[in-house]
Amino acid sequence: MIPLKIVTIIGARPQIIKAAALSRAIRKYYSALISEIIVHTGQHYDENMSEVFFQELSIPKPDYNLGVGSAGHGVQTARMIEGIEKILINEKPDYIVLYGDTNSTLAGAVAASKIHIPIVHIEAGLRSFNKSMPEEINRILCDHCSTLLFAPTPTGYLNLMKEGFPENNQPPYTADNPKVFHCGDVMYDNSLHFAGLAAEQSDILRQYQLTEGNFILSTIHRDNNTDQPQRLNSIFRALLEIIRLSDKAIVLPLHPRTSKLLETNLENKVLSNVKCEPRLKLIPPVSFLDMIRLEQQAAMIITDSGGVQKEAFFFRKPCIILRSETEWKEIVDVGAATIVNADYEAIVASWRRFSSTPPTDFPSIFGDGEAARFICEQMLLNAHPEIGI
Ligand code: UD1
Ligand code: UDP
Repeated sequence: MIPLKIVTIIGARPQIIKAAALSRAIRKYYSALISEIIVHTGQHYDENMSEVFFQELSIPKPDYNLGVGSAGHGVQTARMIEGIEKILINEKPDYIVLYGDTNSTLAGAVAASKIHIPIVHIEAGLRSFNKSMPEEINRILCDHCSTLLFAPTPTGYLNLMKEGFPENNQPPYTADNPKVFHCGDVMYDNSLHFAGLAAEQSDILRQYQLTEGNFILSTIHRDNNTDQPQRLNSIFRALLEIIRLSDKAIVLPLHPRTSKLLETNLENKVLSNVKCEPRLKLIPPVSFLDMIRLEQQAAMIITDSGGVQKEAFFFRKPCIILRSETEWKEIVDVGAATIVNADYEAIVASWRRFSSTPPTDFPSIFGDGEAARFICEQMLLNAHPEIGI
């Protein structure tokens, strides 16, 4: 059999990390059957937002880098579409593999669907039901032109059923006869795989004088939090108040978007308090192993990141979600996480509640750690049913 040829599109930090799981499954189980070409759109490009992950997570070096960089949604996405289309025409893959909901995902979906390359969407079906989020638009559009849709959670699967995807359809699957699978989360695969390595190799705790449980981990990068001064001020005032009321430090690896907007969007008083508070540790973005180590050892996690919310759950940490809704509904339903929006009072009250009564119920929601292997199997089966894996 000629190996199945896939083109994987990555661009933003979380996609680079997610791609590690599929590349690893291909190497481990299907190196003779699947050949992967990696295209980096260049959406993220700082060393600590991109390059750092490749070696650490054993991700093959990208075969192409479009070097698109930062720009408004239209320009950035259009540049990516143009570059991806050329590569697809040249490479003629059996599938394009897209992750999540970024502009790189949308660009891949538009480029591939117009020239009839079947789309595999990993992290399909997630919905915030908030169309003011660019990610919500990206994920809906991508889902609705995909051929194989891999939903990481039961909620993701049900969302797609409600949107009219067929439930019991038969192969061959195509863009007009798409197939939805509930398969678990590739990030759970990654967290299991890298947890031990992080404990062994990461030096981050020593670097910032942290010990188990003496700090809270936070990340903030969602555009509505960084770009709306009122929300950003409210969040930072709450973090400062938690420090004042507790004996903990707060460690905040700063996304470059946030770092650029702190000076302009924080009120002078809040900014100077942020700068003078030694227990508020604003640090550059960290590597994935360092991030996992911080998550493993934190007392609590306060975040607006999709990925970090889930990792809080994987490492059994209470999570305060700085958003008005979440796509990862299950972790809130079981009481492991709580939604506070950017509300000062709610953030402080949730910290108080989780500190006195930490959640204990962390059921298995995200699969068995073999989601990437399952995805490889289904891609192979759909393209080559005769091999009967
Ligand atoms: C993007 C995704 C978001 C995802 C996040 C992961 C979209 C619409 N958003 O948001 O869903 O959660 O990535 O981190 O695709 N910048 C740098 N260096 C970099 C990258 C970005 O300085 O390497 C700065 C630039 O000023 C840029 C800003 O961050 O304008 C935003 O970057 P962009 O990729 O447009 O969006 P994110 O906020 O990172
Ligand atoms: N992450 C990281 N270093 C950091 C911050 C986050 O490695 O300094 C990882 C985190 O562990 C998770 C992923 O990046 O796996 C989440 O990416 P991000 O928060 O940028 O985007 P989102 O998941 O919200 O799309």
